[in-house]
Amino acid sequence: MKFFIDTANLKDIKEAHELGVLDGVTTNPSLMAKEGIKGQANVLAHYKAICEIVDGDVSAEVIATDYVGMIKEGEELVKIDPKIVVKIPMIKDGVKALKYFSDRGIRTNCTLVFSSGQALLAAKAGATYVSPFVGRLDDISQDGLLLIQDIVKIYSNYGFKTQVLAASVRHSMHLLKCAELGADVVTCPLGVITSLLKHPLTDSGLATFLNDHKKVNA
Ligand code: E4P
Repeated sequence: MKFFIDTANLKDIKEAHELGVLDGVTTNPSLMAKEGIKGQANVLAHYKAICEIVDGDVSAEVIATDYVGMIKEGEELVKIDPKIVVKIPMIKDGVKALKYFSDRGIRTNCTLVFSSGQALLAAKAGATYVSPFVGRLDDISQDGLLLIQDIVKIYSNYGFKTQVLAASVRHSMHLLKCAELGADVVTCPLGVITSLLKHPLTDSGLATFLNDHKKVNA
């Protein structure tokens, strides 16, 4: 299972990379805005800075919502660095754009996926990744994890190569359930990844070990 970090914050990306478990980064326009990145030149430079930190795929989202605009923007984005994956929204022109990029060997991440029908379309169009949003479905009292289960089953039935990238993963139980269900990738904030470290018995056990060592080595 790949771990992607869902942020445009360079400090968090560095920290996750230094932990040694980071496989990639996902961003979206809201995450870029949160870091105060504005203006096309700054946005492209920020993507480059992210690519210089990580070894894996970096999803960069198009802003255009029409086919021609998405193609133009995606082609600019992939010039930044070979790690760039073009992130495309699940809308009608987006499906056409997924097919365009797939036919040309350009990797894509189909975002804003909330149903298995949308995921099936993304796979048919040749998306590299599909991003079902677990947390945002939970927010409206629908079971986000059930969607992951359905997509994994559908893709496995037909051998689709599109990777299931569980997005909007908000806490460690989301992440672990996605692992159980066979999601290929999860993307989440740094805190969700580091929360996997924590267990009170690890802390108390370590304190006892160090204390016992100190007693005989004082
Ligand atoms: C990732 O690709 C998505 O943009 C992101 O996971 C959305 O997460 P959120 O619902 O916590 O904003």
